[in-house]
Amino acid sequence: MSQEYEIRIEGVTKQFQDQKNNRKTVLDGIDLNIKKGEFLSLLGSSGCGKTTLLRMIADLTEPTSGTIRVAGTDARTARLNHKYGMVFQNPVLYDWRTVYDNVALPLEMLKVPKKKQKEIIERQLAMVTLTGHENKYPHELSGGMQQRVGIARALALDPEILLMDEPFSALDEFTRQRLHGDLLQIWETTGKTIVFVTHNISEAVFLSDRICVLTAGLGKIADLIDITLPRPRTHGDLKTKAFFDLLTKTRNSFEVDYNAGI
Ligand SMILES: Nc1ncnc2c1ncn2[C@@H]1O[C@H](COP(=O)(O)OP(=O)(O)O)[C@@H](O)[C@H]1O
Ligand SMILES: [Mg+2]
Repeated sequence: MSQEYEIRIEGVTKQFQDQKNNRKTVLDGIDLNIKKGEFLSLLGSSGCGKTTLLRMIADLTEPTSGTIRVAGTDARTARLNHKYGMVFQNPVLYDWRTVYDNVALPLEMLKVPKKKQKEIIERQLAMVTLTGHENKYPHELSGGMQQRVGIARALALDPEILLMDEPFSALDEFTRQRLHGDLLQIWETTGKTIVFVTHNISEAVFLSDRICVLTAGLGKIADLIDITLPRPRTHGDLKTKAFFDLLTKTRNSFEVDYNAGI
């Protein structure tokens, strides 16, 4: 893997004002470099700042201090140049648009010629195994299929980076496992850099090259864990000792949280 960094986070602190107008530090001096083509998960309990960090990478909110470089530029330039696609827990599809037209949305906004749009949409829908469902409306799809549409739409402009915020949290275990397999295949085929937010330890270990564990309350990185399981990964890996050992290692990095009574 290239050592070139796709995302560089240096000394990033984020504070919010609470209801009483007190400053609350959510993230405190975060340093994190993410390599080009890496699959990195941000893991931590609810409220530890995962979404906030992802939104700062996406330039949807600004750091209070510190710098973030994305794809060789500042985060704002990267956003304006469509360097990332984003996938949320709720796929946020337009009910009145078909699957095809939902994926078309970012392409329409950039006035991509219709013929080119069709080529891209067909390719992306094939990638998320939705070929044949083009003319369906979101309410006709299962939750897993809706999330696939969200992924296809995020990939439509062929961004270098995919930012995913708990994309599979609302899905049942079986659907989630299928989507894990599909996501890894997309990642392996396209070579995108993926930053994946989750609070699910097993999911993070199964998918990632590296896990960044965030501690609740302190706003610090508790641990960076290399997930050395071989690729490509299959669900058979979930039963191996190597997987179980990494799961335990990751769990142990939450000791700080437990000790703090969180
Ligand atoms: N816009 C905001 N204004 C004030 N507080 C916020 C805002 N966004 C997030 N927070 C607070 O920051 C903390 C981290 O939130 P978040 O990044 O959403 O956590 P996570 O995604 O890990 O669950 C929470 O305590 C949350 O209440
Ligand atoms: Mg969140």
